[in-house]
Amino acid sequence: MSKINIAIDGYSSCGKSTLAKRLAQSLSYVFIDTGAMYRAVTLFALQNGYFNNKLSVDSLIFDLNKVNISFQYNAERQASDVILNGVNVENEIRTMEVSNHVSEIAEVKEVRKKLVALQQEMGRQKGVVMDGRDIGTVVFPKAELKIFMTADDEVRAMRRFDELRQEGDSISLAEVRENLKKRDHIDTHRKEDPLRQAEDAIVLDNSNLNQEQQFELALRWANERM
Ligand code: DC
Repeated sequence: MSKINIAIDGYSSCGKSTLAKRLAQSLSYVFIDTGAMYRAVTLFALQNGYFNNKLSVDSLIFDLNKVNISFQYNAERQASDVILNGVNVENEIRTMEVSNHVSEIAEVKEVRKKLVALQQEMGRQKGVVMDGRDIGTVVFPKAELKIFMTADDEVRAMRRFDELRQEGDSISLAEVRENLKKRDHIDTHRKEDPLRQAEDAIVLDNSNLNQEQQFELALRWANERM
């Protein structure tokens, strides 16, 4: 069987990473969470004071060569942690503060150019499952399998809310709803590589599907393409 690349795109909190990780494990492929890379650049910008009232885009672009992003496998999580300039920032990039600023960072053309090039390099030998917003349209337009994930807004908000609560965050459901709505809007309306469904992508609406059902479907699609 030949190795393929699998692109998974879709709205925030649709369960893209959960599905991508499971698929990668079962196929012995590499799972790459590209949202984590945009989050790492956001953390860098926050740590270095580029967000005052608004993002200082010019300073960020000027300093982009100081941003070094890599991944390191974490056996406990069975997935890779993000490393920013030598420091493991897997936990820091998941905070609400980063979530609230990440869409602004993802709008910057130079940031996208840098991260897309890195992602393409990671998939050069095939055998990756990559999730994000522009994987099937920009990063791997020739990916053998493209999945576009979607789910009902309220289902997504509840899932994310439960996740954050379990991590000990005292956030309200209204705040989660607001963050998702804002991110979806920016992600689909931005000028640079907006989130859109590739013409040859298969839509996976998981509002009424459990993780097992989604996995079975995606695995079947993958096997059909190998
Ligand atoms: O998948 P996530 O929610 O962790 O992604 C965080 C943000 O990064 C999301 O709001 C949009 C952006 N993103 C992007 O623009 N392109 C990608 N390939 C992945 C994420």
